[in-house]
Amino acid sequence: MISELERNDQSKIDELEQSFNYVLHDIKKDFLNNPFSHYLLFIENNKIIGFINYYLIYDRIEIADFNVLEDYQNKKVGTKLLEFLINKYQNNINNITLEVRSDNYKAINLYEKMRFIKKAIRKNYYDGVDGILMERFMDKKDIYVLGIESSCDETSFSIVKNGTEEIATVISSQIDIHKDYGGVVPEIASRAHVKNVTFVLEECLKKANMSMNEIDMVAVANGPGLIGSLLVGLEAAKTICWLYNKPLIPVHHIAGHIYANNLVKRLSFPLICLVISGGHTELVYMPKDYSFQKLGSTLDDAVGECYDKVGKVIGVAYPAGPIVDKLAHEGSHNYNLPIPLNDDSYNFSFSGLKSAVINLAHNEQMRGNEINKKDLATSFQNVVVDVLTRKTLMAINEKNVHNLILAGGVSANLGIREGFKKLCDARGINYTFPDIKYCTDNAAMIAAAGYYAYLDGRKADYTLNAFSTMELK
Ligand code: KG4
Ligand code: ZN
Repeated sequence: MISELERNDQSKIDELEQSFNYVLHDIKKDFLNNPFSHYLLFIENNKIIGFINYYLIYDRIEIADFNVLEDYQNKKVGTKLLEFLINKYQNNINNITLEVRSDNYKAINLYEKMRFIKKAIRKNYYDGVDGILMERFMDKKDIYVLGIESSCDETSFSIVKNGTEEIATVISSQIDIHKDYGGVVPEIASRAHVKNVTFVLEECLKKANMSMNEIDMVAVANGPGLIGSLLVGLEAAKTICWLYNKPLIPVHHIAGHIYANNLVKRLSFPLICLVISGGHTELVYMPKDYSFQKLGSTLDDAVGECYDKVGKVIGVAYPAGPIVDKLAHEGSHNYNLPIPLNDDSYNFSFSGLKSAVINLAHNEQMRGNEINKKDLATSFQNVVVDVLTRKTLMAINEKNVHNLILAGGVSANLGIREGFKKLCDARGINYTFPDIKYCTDNAAMIAAAGYYAYLDGRKADYTLNAFSTMELK
């Protein structure tokens, strides 16, 4: 049984003082006279076996002491006390804070499981041992996540509320800078990020009409991507967290793309996600929030890369995806192209298809024939839609799911959307596609994902690094 200690319950006060004799001084001096101070007792067979002493200060709680009798440890008494406290005040307070010795790993572990996050270190707080200040936000409080994305050629900041509601997003794209080179030049990209980063942040806060103090945490895409570009966003994130004392949440870039869907409609689980972007083609199974199981991926080129290459062949500027898509809607399927990796694995291969398009264009040129750009775009896109829908359907059937989402830059493709819509409608599968403007890189998706990463207990310290390749897990 868990109950509050009443100030007039002399027998319980006496028992508490005897069982945990060090609290004696505090009870007499503080608890009896201080209306903010409370004791939550865990009572078993009429015996107090554990307690939490906390201060309820208007809209927040500070835990001052927390103890369980030695004989009753490892029996979840502490967890139950904390759960009780959290449930009791769920709707009335904003946050709970506590201090713990930095060498008390067991306690830190328990608090982290209960979604407390490390907020600050207090040097030598416990006579030579550091203290860690930990904090847990209550669910009723709105949580504002500042997202940062800089993994390729977009510098972007965004503020998202509770993982679902976009408050403000600013994206500074470098497409014009890289256009002349036919692709992103990494060194130029990182320099442009450095130049843009503070302006984009300022603009984002201004657009949201918020100050940094109103932000609860910072989520940053720390990979995969161009290392020089990623590092700019990461350093910005660390600096903000350090200056304003905010938790730092690392987000996998692809998790961000996936959670772009959460800004359209709350994800339903279990689900299958087809990730199609400039750098990725992956089938992912998600049994619940922020849990990713990769089923298969491309063995060579990503589908976005293939679009860009085909665009080059038919003389379309980078990034070619949207224009190839448009042409595909205007032509007919008159060219015969091979269906790539038409097997029953979850993997993809696009380099063969890419070469087939290049060879076809080359052969026609040798024969002095003009290629029909629209027809080639249609033929190419049909093959892509065919293989993507077929493999995704295999995964949907095998995992027996009823929810499908698309993610990544190529999910803006209207032909691909039509293909999946048809597939899902025919089978009664729920589907969500990201908002077209959030298919390509942006920080709103990183902020949305960051909220669920935080709920999953993922947070980082200042040793966090950026990685050009990184497993989604
Ligand atoms: O997701 P993203 O911004 O980059 C990575 O994270 O890799 O995706 C960029 C890719 C580019 O290859 C671009 O050509 C492609 O997405 N893309 C499209 C469309 N819009 C963008 N591909 C096909 N159809 C589109 N409508
Ligand atoms: Zn991306």
